Amino acid sequence: MADTAKISIGGKTIDLPILKGTTGPDVVDIRKFYAESDAFTYDPGFTSTASCESKITYIDGDAGVLLHRGYPIGELAEKSTFLDTCYLLLHGELPNAKQYADFEHTITYHTMLHEQFDRFFQGFRRDAHPMAIMTGAVGALSAFYHDSTDINDPQQRMISAHRLIAKMPTIAARAFKYFTGQPFVHPRNDLSYAENFLRMCFSVPAEDWKPNPVLTRAMDRIFILHADHEQNASTSTVRLAGSSGANPFACIAAGIACLWGPAHGGANEEALNMLKEIGTVDRIPEYIQGVKDRRYRLMGFGHRVYKNYDPRATVMQKTCHEVLAEVGDADDPLLKVAMELERIALSDEYFIERKLYPNVDFYSGITLRALGFPAEMFTVLFAVARTVGWISQWKEMIEDPAYKIGRPRQLYTGALQRAYVPVDKR
Ligand code: CMC
Repeated sequence: MADTAKISIGGKTIDLPILKGTTGPDVVDIRKFYAESDAFTYDPGFTSTASCESKITYIDGDAGVLLHRGYPIGELAEKSTFLDTCYLLLHGELPNAKQYADFEHTITYHTMLHEQFDRFFQGFRRDAHPMAIMTGAVGALSAFYHDSTDINDPQQRMISAHRLIAKMPTIAARAFKYFTGQPFVHPRNDLSYAENFLRMCFSVPAEDWKPNPVLTRAMDRIFILHADHEQNASTSTVRLAGSSGANPFACIAAGIACLWGPAHGGANEEALNMLKEIGTVDRIPEYIQGVKDRRYRLMGFGHRVYKNYDPRATVMQKTCHEVLAEVGDADDPLLKVAMELERIALSDEYFIERKLYPNVDFYSGITLRALGFPAEMFTVLFAVARTVGWISQWKEMIEDPAYKIGRPRQLYTGALQRAYVPVDKR
């Protein structure tokens, strides 16, 4: 391919540089296009737009490949721990033993919340959706940790990253406890990240949470699977919010708000609701017909980038079987519905033609339910895991000398200038 692309517009030919990444499609650099052509490019939904340069995560949607800093997601899910993956995303390399121990210590010793912070939760209605609580509570962190909101100080950037990774499970567990009407459980420093989170969610004064290595490992793996995913909607939201110079806690709150939508992180909750609605295997054909009639979508299916099996879904399916076997639910009727639905969809022309495959959310709902979480918590768990991706991407942007405020333009199709009409003349 030539090193420049040419666009002819208004009788003028404009040369646009072609940028090459280490892998993936070439990128046509249109930064000077408006100045030279007086025209904008139009790409709602950003289907053809690379919004930034990044070294963190690579996805080949056609091949079903997901790499974090070069490492395949399947290998990380198998061999890494969530904190190991966090360090990798944040720093670019896997930690050595000392770096890992130091990082684990730092995260562990930042898990507590300021005591006054707990009063925030009391302000929510007692049945508030945990994602509503998350959006508000995480934004409120910036009111408590002023000493890590100077985005121009690299040390403060790192401290805010550590605080976010460490405190998200504590906030998420409180949102859960508040939602269920149980007392808050404080973090404990002798437990791993996943153990601590599960205990803060499931321990009650009458009975302590009992560790279970299979379930703890599954929780940790679910966190790894959701840790980052390139420039998805919530990550782009975090970058856009951060591009104005907003503090990292505010930016992550913006990311959580975006994640909540059913087309994004809210899909796991919707996917489980869908499986419950279908209920039994014999009702699948009728449900599939409704999808084809465009009355609704098959939740947990399809992806903007993956036009192949989502590699996270492969691991999630395996984890789902392990968790269900461990909790004695291997015959869960919803698992049967999910497996049959997947089988039928993968052999149906409607789905084949559109390259619709299960995504990470298809099996995560059943797995999380078996771990003991209600559907309202599913997106919260996604947010806990994705925090490291958001903050790594935010940091990368702030540290990029080329970064500037994100300010897209538009194709204006509204009224032309006209004179104001006084109310008695309208
Ligand atoms: N069920 C049925 N048809 C679908 C689905 C689906 N889940 N997804 C896409 N299609 C069809 C769509 O109707 C369209 O058909 P046609 O060309 O005939 O009009 C075609 O496939 C392309 O769809 P699109 O909306 O242009 O695709 P998109 O890239 O904009 O949407 C998506 C991607 C994830 C929003 C979409 O696939 C979807 O709504 N899936 C269900 C929600 C879901 O599971 N989301 C989780 C994504 S993975 C986790 C995350 O990233 O948060």
